[in-house]
Amino acid sequence: MSKGYAEAYQAWREDPQRFWGEAALAIAWFQDPAVAFDGAAGIYGRWFPDGITNACYNCLDRHVIAGRGDQPALIYDSPVTGVKQTFSYSEMLESVATFTAVLADKGVAAGDRVIIYMPMIPEAVVAMLACARIGAIHSVVFGGFAASELAARIDDSAARVVVSASCGLEPGRVVAYKPLLDAAIALARHKPETCIVLQRPQCAADLLPGRDFDFKTLIAETAAADRTADCVPVAATHPLYILYTSGTTGQPKGVVRDTGGYLVALAWSMRHLYDIRPGEVFWTASDIGWVVGHSYIVYGPLLNGSTTILYEGKPVGTPDAGAFWRVISEHKAVALFTAPTAFRAIRKEDPDGREIDRYDVATLRTLFLAGERADPDTLAWAEAKLGVPVVDHWWQTETGWAIAGNPVGLGMLPVKHGSPTVPMPGYDIHVLDDTGHVVGAGTLGNIAVRLPLPPGCLPTFWKADERFHAACLAEFPGYYRTADAGYVDADGYVFVMARTDDIINVAGHRLSTGAMEEVCASHPDVAECAVIGIADPVKGQIPAGFLVLNNGVSRESSGIEREVVALVRERIGPVAAFKTVICVKRLPKTRSGKILRGTMQKIADRQDWKMPATIDDPAVLDEIAAALLDRHIGA
Ligand code: COA
Ligand code: AMP
Repeated sequence: MSKGYAEAYQAWREDPQRFWGEAALAIAWFQDPAVAFDGAAGIYGRWFPDGITNACYNCLDRHVIAGRGDQPALIYDSPVTGVKQTFSYSEMLESVATFTAVLADKGVAAGDRVIIYMPMIPEAVVAMLACARIGAIHSVVFGGFAASELAARIDDSAARVVVSASCGLEPGRVVAYKPLLDAAIALARHKPETCIVLQRPQCAADLLPGRDFDFKTLIAETAAADRTADCVPVAATHPLYILYTSGTTGQPKGVVRDTGGYLVALAWSMRHLYDIRPGEVFWTASDIGWVVGHSYIVYGPLLNGSTTILYEGKPVGTPDAGAFWRVISEHKAVALFTAPTAFRAIRKEDPDGREIDRYDVATLRTLFLAGERADPDTLAWAEAKLGVPVVDHWWQTETGWAIAGNPVGLGMLPVKHGSPTVPMPGYDIHVLDDTGHVVGAGTLGNIAVRLPLPPGCLPTFWKADERFHAACLAEFPGYYRTADAGYVDADGYVFVMARTDDIINVAGHRLSTGAMEEVCASHPDVAECAVIGIADPVKGQIPAGFLVLNNGVSRESSGIEREVVALVRERIGPVAAFKTVICVKRLPKTRSGKILRGTMQKIADRQDWKMPATIDDPAVLDEIAAALLDRHIGA
């Protein structure tokens, strides 16, 4: 085991206060924290409780003051519009300080919530950092969600302002955002006072007088008046953002991220996990709507004084499977971070990796993968074709940064395919059986993290302390339940195998099958339903819905199936990739009435399965298998 990692982990174990206190020196504070951790505060303790800082100051002002003003901070590369732009740290600071003044003019103050519903454009990053600058709490909503998902987030956060754009660009399709935003506001009980809308040339949005304002006009007026706004010092425990993520019901969970601990954890990870130095180009090919985008497109690289790439495109089709290699070679990225699904998509189009040879990717040192299990096959392909180390690491929206990874900056550990390697300092990982007892090395169980969670992890859910406790802390007292199942081997390597709840991972996007079932069940002809995740060669998993229709429904079932597909797209959004649905006579159940989703999934994936002892009527499973075969669904 690398000495660097072993020493760092040991140093943290021996004295966590000291370890994180030293890590906090990488951050600029308006008031230094006297203690790193207060175990008596909050639900399981709070990090840097008396520290005062500002995330925007750390990401921009500090670097300009230190002489990094002319260095590129953000490279916007958009194959879908053909635009490439580079913004220096000084330019980003100017835009952000101006937009902060715009927000202040609209009444936004520290603690107010601002929803950012924007595609992958520089203005989205400007809006995030402007919120951070004024102490407002941003909540970025991914563009692929439907109006009702956006409405749920507007209501839960009670946002004062929404910052949006007229449209997003999907390959071959302009997605008009404004009608979705208007529909969301109509649905929401809470009405935001102001919407600031960036008009993109591909589609003009109608603006509602009095409520809606043109982004560029507000910026131009404020800049002409030479008005900017300064950083507002906030407590380290002040929320920087809320990021909603799928829970086990249709109601998303508002993961709260506090400011100081997050900055400290990100700064530590940029150096020790990703091994990125100031001035280097770090590219995370994700979306700012996800946690990976928050941490490693926006805050991490900028905090580190590095250059980040904002890529508005896909791994394939914009225009081809060489897109990633073009971006790396043009912008001299030293590391790429993406989801395994992107590599599966590239490999499908270009199995021999011929596109790689068309570009000079010599600057690339490491490929980082996360967001879903990295299947060993994809990992081996990436290693062989790129000739650089491929680092799988495991984390969640809740944690904000890696729970387990291979710390390149501390000296890489040997790679074991299928394992995201070892716990990062701060994470005391245990595998527990269902009664909460620690199991031995190599035994599958519930992966849990002994409390307290390290800096950067969520202190709670937005205005829902009890839900946080019930969802994350109650099942295994003294631990955070990751809801992932897996094992730790004799060398201390973590293996993450599956979720223990109804969450599925579709193209690296986290989705709740329970939420999809709620939508399916709302169709008037559906009596009951089950949604499961089935294996997909590119997306990892895709949802498949099984519907049982009400007695007496005489319509063609294919029409109902189409309507249910449309309903999920309308209520949850295209990101759900809900296209597979099948009407069946009955669902397999236990004698107590529990639907046997796990067995259905095994049948669909053509895996070995055992007849559950508690099954009510074994014949139903044969019916399901026959229906899947008939429709060519499954592996
Ligand atoms: N706005 C509007 N619609 C969006 C959207 C956005 N920001 N992002 C995706 N969608 C739509 C897509 O157009 C697609 O719609 P369709 O059903 O009409 O085709 C649907 O949502 C599903 O999108 P996606 O999951 O991106 O699938 P895809 O088939 O378009 O592309 C991949 C598949 C693998 C290429 C793509 O998912 C990808 O690049 N993934 C990278 C992984 C990633 O970013 N993970 C985040 C965590 S690291
Ligand atoms: P999200 O909150 O959207 O980032 O999704 C988090 C979930 O994705 C985790 O709980 C895991 O189930 C899964 N996940 C993320 N990274 C990995 C990984 N490296 N290996 C296995 N599963 C992962």
